Amino acid sequence: MIKKGIILAGGTGSRMSPITKAVNKQLLPIYDKPLIYYPLSVLLLANIKDVLIIVNQGQLYQFKKILGDGSRFGIKISYAEQQKPSGLPDAFIIGEEFIGKENVALILGDNFFYGQNFTKSLRECTKLKNGAKVFLHLVSNPSAYGVAKVNNNNKIVKIVEKPKTKISNLAVTGLYFFDNSVVKLSKKLKPSDRNEIEIVDLLNIYKKKNKLKGEFLGRGGVWLDTGSIKDFYDTSAFVSTVENRQGLKIACLEEIAFKKKWINRKNIKEAIVFYGKCEYSNYLAKFISKSNFK
Ligand code: G1P
Repeated sequence: MIKKGIILAGGTGSRMSPITKAVNKQLLPIYDKPLIYYPLSVLLLANIKDVLIIVNQGQLYQFKKILGDGSRFGIKISYAEQQKPSGLPDAFIIGEEFIGKENVALILGDNFFYGQNFTKSLRECTKLKNGAKVFLHLVSNPSAYGVAKVNNNNKIVKIVEKPKTKISNLAVTGLYFFDNSVVKLSKKLKPSDRNEIEIVDLLNIYKKKNKLKGEFLGRGGVWLDTGSIKDFYDTSAFVSTVENRQGLKIACLEEIAFKKKWINRKNIKEAIVFYGKCEYSNYLAKFISKSNFK
């Protein structure tokens, strides 16, 4: 079972300047909560309770202020700073001590996932013992992402970062599961033309050894990007639509932890005090008052 997860929440968010000049993108709102709540909820749903959040230099305070040590959600959160953006596999080099001898999940701090069967697929991925697993999803603009080509048996036969000529519509999402050799392999990667070590190079090493597998989010699953201002707006609109229609929140971390019995009613009441008078607190109060809240 994979018990450790890393959220890479660095990056300059340059495509969203001037909004991101003073604030880390992952702390900006997707509708009613900071963006970081959504990838963190993915790790919680995967039953990962030991989390490392990697942030830009100088931004630790802001993240700690909202997420603390994780005890509000019954988990453990530690933090590390990244000196400068050096590519996604840098997360495993920075996280070497945190990972220790275990396998690890990585989720990018700006990725949004939603869907009926998603939690089931996540649990499958956390069973990984050897090799690597990526989450694949159909997109209409594959050239913006890492892209995988699969054969008739759904085996990944090719994987390319932002291909100029189309190889498939299957994007490699920002959610990865690796065995422990990821630390050693990441250290051996050579920087690309843009002077960063690349996740696709890492995945290709696993593919060559026949140790790379894909998990499919499927048509009913939702994977949204929050790279640009329009993406932010669209993702917020999606969350608003679903939440207001159902009266249920997406990525309410305390609700997920409460349902897993990682925290109790008293902890929820403390969370309400922490958040103060707001709609999010009203929601927390509502679900602990109803025993049949689904
Ligand atoms: C990164 C990865 C890419 C992946 C994407 C998912 O791209 O390099 O392979 O598909 O995240 O969000 P970036 O968003 O940093 O351009």
